[in-house]
This record gives sequence, C-alpha cells and structure tokens, in this order.
Amino acid sequence: MLAIDKTGQDYLYQQVIDLILELIESGTLLPGDRLPSLRKLSARVGVSVPTVKQAYLELERQGRVEARPQSGYFVHARKQIRLTGANCESCIPQTVECRSIVERMYDGIHQTGVVPFGIANPCMARPAAKALHRTMKRVMSRAEDRSLGYAPTQGEPSLRRHIALRILDRGFQMDPDDIIITSGGQEALSLCLQAVAKPGDVIAVESPTYHGLLELIESLGMLALEIETCPTGGVVLASLNQAIEDHDIKVCMFSSVVNNPLGSATNNSHRKALVELLESRDIVLIEDDVYGELVFDGQVNTPAQSFSKKGLVLTCSSFSKTAAPGYRIGWVLPGNFKQKVHRLKRCMSCSSGLLQQLTLAEFLASGDYDRHLRALLPVLRCNAQRMAAVIEREFPEGTLCSEPQGGSVLWIQMPGTVDSELVFSKALCKGISLAPGSVFSPGDRYRHFIRLSYGHPWSDKTEAAISSLAFIVKEAL
Ligand SMILES: Cc1ncc(COP(=O)(O)O)c(C=O)c1O
Repeated sequence: MLAIDKTGQDYLYQQVIDLILELIESGTLLPGDRLPSLRKLSARVGVSVPTVKQAYLELERQGRVEARPQSGYFVHARKQIRLTGANCESCIPQTVECRSIVERMYDGIHQTGVVPFGIANPCMARPAAKALHRTMKRVMSRAEDRSLGYAPTQGEPSLRRHIALRILDRGFQMDPDDIIITSGGQEALSLCLQAVAKPGDVIAVESPTYHGLLELIESLGMLALEIETCPTGGVVLASLNQAIEDHDIKVCMFSSVVNNPLGSATNNSHRKALVELLESRDIVLIEDDVYGELVFDGQVNTPAQSFSKKGLVLTCSSFSKTAAPGYRIGWVLPGNFKQKVHRLKRCMSCSSGLLQQLTLAEFLASGDYDRHLRALLPVLRCNAQRMAAVIEREFPEGTLCSEPQGGSVLWIQMPGTVDSELVFSKALCKGISLAPGSVFSPGDRYRHFIRLSYGHPWSDKTEAAISSLAFIVKEAL
C-alpha cells in the first residue's frame, strides 16, 4: 500500500525511501526487479518527480538499488546482515575489571581531528548550537544574580516542570516534585545504584550493555550478571526469569527503550511485562532512558516506571543525547527511593549547574527543543542507513551489522577471529576512533565486535574513514 503522510514530520523523500525499503523487506520487490519509474511513482504517491529522484539517488548511495542507463532503477542483491542474540545461559555473576582500553577509548575520542566513530553523540549529527547559544544569551542578559548561584539540590523547578510535561507527552504523569536533576545520566545511574545496592550485590545487565554501567558496577564493588538480549527487542524475559531462579539478583540495570550498543528498541508491552516480572520478585529496576526520545519509528514509548505498582523502578535520563552533552544535565525519577537519592545527590555534588538548567528550561519552553528533535531524527536515521550500506559494501564477507531502531550507533560483528582491540589501535593511528566490543561485556564475549557511531554530520570523510576501517579489518583476518 503506497501512502505518504504530507502532514507528518518526516521528509517526503525519506518517506519514499522507507516505502521502497518496505517493499523490498516484505519481498514484494525482489533483487533484480525494476523500481516503478520516477513519473509513475510520483503520480501514484502524490509527490514531485524530483522528490522521487532524490529518494532513488539516496537508495543508490546506500547500495540498495542500482541505476542502469536507459533502463531505470533495479533492486540490488543484499546480504543478510542481521545479528542474533548472544546465549548467556552459562553466565555467572562476576567482578568487572576496569580495563585500560576504556581509558584509551576516551583519550582517542578527544584527539584533535579524530573521526568520532567512538562516541555515542546523537545530537552532534545536527547540533542545536545556535539555538542553544541564543537561549543561554537570553538567560544571561537577564543578569539575575541568582543564575550565578547554587541551584537547589533537587534542581531548578522550571526545568523539572518541563521534564514532567515531556514525560506526560510519553503517557506518564509525574509530579515535578518527584524529579531530581543530576549532572548527566551517568551521575543519575550512579546515585540510583548506590541508593539501592551495596558491594557484593548481583546486578543484572543486558548483553551487550553500555560500558558506563559496567564501570559503575566495578567501582562500587558489585557483581555483574549478563542476561540474553535480543538484537531487535530487548532483554529476553524467559532468560531473565531463569537467571532470577538461578541467582540472587538484587537489581537490574537495563536500557529500557533503546539499547547501547545494539540500537534495539523495546515496546510498551515488553517493558510492562518486564516490570511485572521484576516486581513480583521484589527486584529493583534502574532503567536507563537516555535514548528515550530518539526512537526512529516515532511510536510513543512510556518509561518503564509508569508500569510500576510497588515503586521499585528508578528512571534515569539526560539531555546529553538529545541536546548538549557538555551541559551535563540529567535527571532521576527515583520511585520509592527519593529521600536516599536526594541525600546522595547533596553529598556527592550538592547540585548541578544552574545556568545550564535555566537555559534548558527556556529551550524546552520556547518549542526550540521539539523543533530540534524533529529535524535531528531523520538525519540520524539516514546516517544509520548510509553507514550500514557502506559497511555492507566495504567490509569483508561474513560481517554482520545491527539495524538500529533508535540512538546513534551500529553494532558490528566482524568475521572470523578479528580482534577489535587490535582494530581499535590501528584505526586510532589513522585518526579514526571506535569502541571495541570488549568494553560492552564483563566477560570477553564481544572481542570480535566493534561499535561505530553515526552521530556526526555525514561527509565524504565519513565514507573514506569507513573504507579505511574495512581495510584494517581485512588485514586483521
Ligand atoms: C546508554 C547510556 N547511558 C548513559 C549514558 C551517560 O549519559 P550522560 O552523558 O548524560 O552522562 C550514556 C552515554 O554515552 C549512554 O550511552
């Protein structure tokens, strides 16, 4: 069924791309089939011929179709690049060793001129610098003495109110007084974990999981237990259930909406079932929701906390992925643990930057934040498709790659026994940063994976860097 939504937020040419991809994925259009002519499709879906042309050119760039002189566009044969989930049946709780590779990864990211594949920085694909600077100037021009002072420990009330309004848009009513502002998502996660667990406790994590969670678990002397996670749909609940039977899990720390590095998204019914399972066993869930507003299909996803009946879910998020990582502003919805988290926030860092909080409150109030997100999401989705296409074209046979449903990273399984830490070192020498797979698991199960970020403006330099990487991987085979 060919339908374009002209009132929607997505660019028309992107909708044409999606429509053709849907026909290919569903098997309606097979490799070698001719695409409808530009005129025919333009008339059928009611968009201009140049818009269809733009979509076909982009599909050609992505390697999904090929142009044949005088004949039109044809569906290209595509390799199967989907990943399968890792089996964690034999996983046991284990200490996490803070590996020097994480430090080297962070050092690499900040080298001047480096290609930034190593850092998950979605908003930098289309930075909101001008709008944010304008807003901050406005805040500063009011020259209130107050803006130089300490923010309340719990955070600036106007920002908490706007965060509550955004959560309401996602279908969950929060009292602004039940929100605590933090210095980024990482502090939010750290405060929550300290509030609900102690050294030696078993913390269940997705497999693979964000390395920042593992570093927290390590630094607090806790044990990590990996749970099988589906590359297209979140933690496998049957595996989680079994792990609960087998081990004394105190807390689960899951990326509730979009997993980093998989880029997989979960739906509301999955999160509801997850919360029901955990609360039936009195297990706490710390949900990492930093990518909650960066899901590509535009479906409303409600924080897992909205499904909680016992108050055992704590939600952490931030503006780092959507607006400005350097502002270091995040927040916690602490559930039953408000007093503990509030106290920890006061003794760890007193409060978070007031000027940044006032700026973000005004950015949200003016509608600029919404406008920015509407423009950012199609760029991210397009970058994901472009990067996957170049990888498919340039990387060696046997490479598998995720199909992200949100966020800003691709998760790539390299063929054979290619060592991601070797690839990482060689790439950095050539000015390309990346995240080696070994940092996403407490065990060593992802050593032949790499994570590449597409959260930066696309350019010829990007494509050239992926080609260089492909060369390094082929050499390492
Ligand atoms: C899944 C996930 N959680 C938390 C964070 C930390 O967020 P922040 O930069 O707001 O501290 C990141 C940053 O990379 C992340 O990817």
